[in-house]
Amino acid sequence: MPDDAVHKVLVTGATGFIGRALRPALLARGLEVRATTRHLGRAPRNGGAEWVEADLLRPETLGPALEGMDAAYYLVHSMGDRGEDYSEREHRSAEAFAHEAARAGLKRIVYLGGVAPRGTPSHHLASRLAVGEILRAGPVPTVELRASMIVGPGSISWRICRDLALRLPAMVLPSWMRSLTSPIALEDVVWALTDALEVPLEHGEWFDIPGPEPLSGKQILERIAALRGLRILMVQLPVLTPHLSSLWLRLVTSADYGVARELVAGMTQDLLPRDERYFELTHHPPRLPFDEAARRTLEAEEADAAHPRGFAAREEHWVERLGSHLNRSATR
Ligand SMILES: NC(=O)c1ccc[n+]([C@@H]2O[C@H](COP(=O)([O-])OP(=O)(O)OC[C@H]3O[C@@H](n4cnc5c(N)ncnc54)[C@H](OP(=O)(O)O)[C@@H]3O)[C@@H](O)[C@H]2O)c1
Repeated sequence: MPDDAVHKVLVTGATGFIGRALRPALLARGLEVRATTRHLGRAPRNGGAEWVEADLLRPETLGPALEGMDAAYYLVHSMGDRGEDYSEREHRSAEAFAHEAARAGLKRIVYLGGVAPRGTPSHHLASRLAVGEILRAGPVPTVELRASMIVGPGSISWRICRDLALRLPAMVLPSWMRSLTSPIALEDVVWALTDALEVPLEHGEWFDIPGPEPLSGKQILERIAALRGLRILMVQLPVLTPHLSSLWLRLVTSADYGVARELVAGMTQDLLPRDERYFELTHHPPRLPFDEAARRTLEAEEADAAHPRGFAAREEHWVERLGSHLNRSATR
C-alpha cells in the first residue's frame, strides 16, 4: 500500500519572512526539514534543518534539492530583483519547480500567494496568481493559500503601515487607503501552512486565508498608532495617486522601495476573501484579532531592537511566540 503520509519537507524561500517562521513549526510537528537558499553562507547554523543551495531560476539545482522529499513549500518571489521583468522570472521559476517536483515524485506542493481582487489585479498580484495557476496545473497536487497583509515582524506590508502610523503625526491620506483588506497574524499563516500538508485534496485547489476582520488602510494605521498611544491626523485627498503616494513612501518607510511600490499598487482595490472554508476544513483555532497580532509584533520588534543578536536570536523569540500560540489553541 502506498504511504501517503508526509515525513520529509522541502522549504524554498526558507530565509524569507514566512520561511523563517515556518521552519521551526514544521520541525515541532516532527517533520524532517530541508531548507533552500541561493547563498548557503547566509543560512543559519542552528535550528535542526538541513540546508541546501537551490535557485529556482537554475532548474539544474532543483533535482538534488527535491530528491527524497515528500512535499515542498513554495515561498519564493522575485519582486525587488533588478533587471528583466520579475513576472517573467516568477513564471519561469514556477514552471521549473512544477516540472522538477513531478520528476522527484512529490505528493504535494504548498504555495503561499496573494488574494485576488474583484477587478483587474496589479502587476504584482497578477504574477502571484499566475504562479499559483502554473503550480496547480502541474501533475503534483498543489494547495494555494492566498493571504493579503500578514502581520508579523519582518513583513514588508506590516513595516510600511507601522512606519506610516508611528513616524508621521499627520498625513495626507491617499484614496487607496479606503480599500479594505483582512490582515492575518503570522501565527495563523504558519498554522494554516502546516495544516496544508494534510488537507484533503483531489488535485490543485486554492483557498483564501483572511484574518478575522476586514479593515481599511486608514483603520489599520489608526489601530497601530493607538497601540502606542498616538493619534494621526489624516486628511483625505482624492488626487494623490498610488504612484505619487508610493514616492513619499520612500521617505517614510525602511521597507525596500521597489517592493513597497508594487505592494501599494496592489492595495488600490479591496482584497477581500471569497470565503473562509479553509479554516472550517482544517478546524483552525480562532484567529488572532488584528490588535493582538499588531501588539505582539510591536513587542517582538522592540525586543529585537533591544537585543540585536541577529538571525538566531530572532528565531528563538519566534519559537517561544509560536509555542504559546499553539498551547493557547490546544487548550480551546
Ligand atoms: N509577506 C507578506 O506579507 C505576504 C503576504 C501574502 C503572501 N505572501 C507570499 O509569501 C511568500 C513568501 O514571501 P516572504 O514575505 O517570505 O518573502 P521574502 O521575505 O522576500 O523572502 C523571499 C525568499 O525567496 C527566496 N528567493 C528569491 N528568489 C529566489 C530564487 N530565484 N530561487 C530560490 N529562492 C529564491 C529568497 O531566498 P534567498 O535569498 O536566501 O535565496 C527569500 O528567502 C511569497 O509567495 C509571497 O507572495 C507574503
